[in-house]
Amino acid sequence: MRPLNVLSVTSEIYPIIKTGGLADVAGALPGALAREGVSVVTLVPGYPAVLNALEHGQVVHRYGNLHGGSVQLLRGRAGALDLFVIDAPHLFERPGSPYVAPDGQDWPDNTRRFATLGRIAADLGHGLAPGFMPDVIHAHDWQAGLAPAYLHFSGRPRPGIVMTVHNIAFQGAFPAYLLSELGLPSEAFTIDGVEYYGQIGFLKAGLQLSDRITTVSPTYAREIQRAEGGMGLDGLFRARSGIVSGILNGIDDAVWNPATDPHLAAPFDGDRLDARAANKEALQVRLGLRPDPDALLFGVVSRLSEQKGLDLLLDALPVMLEDGAQLALLGAGDRRLEDGFRAASEAFPGQVGCAFGYDEALAHQIQGGSDALLVPSRFEPCGLTQLCAMRYGNVPVVSRVGGLSDTVIDANEAALAAGVATGVQFSPVDAASLTHAIARVKELWPDIDAWRGLQRNGMATDVSWSRPARQYASLYRACAHVGS
Ligand code: ADP
Ligand code: GLC
Repeated sequence: MRPLNVLSVTSEIYPIIKTGGLADVAGALPGALAREGVSVVTLVPGYPAVLNALEHGQVVHRYGNLHGGSVQLLRGRAGALDLFVIDAPHLFERPGSPYVAPDGQDWPDNTRRFATLGRIAADLGHGLAPGFMPDVIHAHDWQAGLAPAYLHFSGRPRPGIVMTVHNIAFQGAFPAYLLSELGLPSEAFTIDGVEYYGQIGFLKAGLQLSDRITTVSPTYAREIQRAEGGMGLDGLFRARSGIVSGILNGIDDAVWNPATDPHLAAPFDGDRLDARAANKEALQVRLGLRPDPDALLFGVVSRLSEQKGLDLLLDALPVMLEDGAQLALLGAGDRRLEDGFRAASEAFPGQVGCAFGYDEALAHQIQGGSDALLVPSRFEPCGLTQLCAMRYGNVPVVSRVGGLSDTVIDANEAALAAGVATGVQFSPVDAASLTHAIARVKELWPDIDAWRGLQRNGMATDVSWSRPARQYASLYRACAHVGS
């Protein structure tokens, strides 16, 4: 088969800049696609971390003025990643989060910042960089959502366009008066274009004007087509349902490999599960928990946001801790949730240990050291932490939504009898069901054989990118050049 060229357009990419799973996906998919004969170059904004990571960056184009300053488009590598980088100091030379200022508020010029990402993606789709012509542009989330709009309204031949939505809670809607400043024609402002409830909808535009829409699990692909899950976009998803599909995420099994993980006190594999005890003890010590091998240790690695349902865990906590169970939590985000868990660690010393902020090493240590991982999300497009948990023999306890329901096999009687269970699911998403799920875990835990079975099944599950990469490759082939 002829090799395919894809331009991936993303606002974050692991290991350079990450706020969540989007970065993991953008960082891992190119390597997995290379094995499918797909060559990916990724366009990213030139935040300081990206410019620092770029090796041998060459200028491929200069823009005199884009939104108040000159812009250079660079091409270079960062480790295994092949990148186009938007060097635009007036837009991206800001430390910290790609989206919010140090006070936690969105940068006021996010419209221009991410319109620039979309605009340059479209220019690359029209052959801006000598020697590079993508067959497909793959745009991720609202930040890349204007790429399809710029391509569409240029009226010129264009590559095929895939729009992947990782989370429809973030839609990127901005005031309508910015339309001409963004360089979009007035006819773009219709329901078939970028207009979204009277505003300019970046995600809406991308979804409306792409050839294929994917999201990150089959269940989420169905959920977003219903009013309860569509967050205002369900009508669009229904209207375009023929081109909507769900492709499950994988995880990078080199980064997440318990046998070689440098962050773990004691690396292990499915045949050496006893070695997890040393990781558990190290985690207990690190987070100020009582070092007790017999205490059932629950873990959480999460953004702290409404989506993740961790307020339900705060409600369920007193009952969960009654018989000596423990919680190790790593989270970043919502201040009130942080305060809630901080208060819990003071109220239950030695039983609740928390760390706040972003900490890659501790995320691995929780996966390798806790017994069960709690993911009580209200909605979850895919979720990666339950996949990491399975790979690390950490039994996932998840709400039955989105990708969580597609990736974890509940330990019901049938699954236990068939020997295929990998975790525990619960529904509806409320504190009572979560409490009930935790009680089920406590029943399973003392039965060493049953528990080892759950761990081994999880560890034997293929959570790699191999299968998803094949699915993306065939999707790309199906829509390459459709627009030309
Ligand atoms: P989302 O993208 O909605 O945050 P995912 O489960 O898809 O959820 O991806 C989360 C990713 O971010 C995982 O790789 C997880 O290990 C990581 N992560 C989440 N919170 C933290 C944190 N506080 N510190 C380090 N890594 C984190
Ligand atoms: C989003 C979703 C998460 C998904 C990730 C990567 O952040 O919240 O469920 O795994 O994107 O696709």
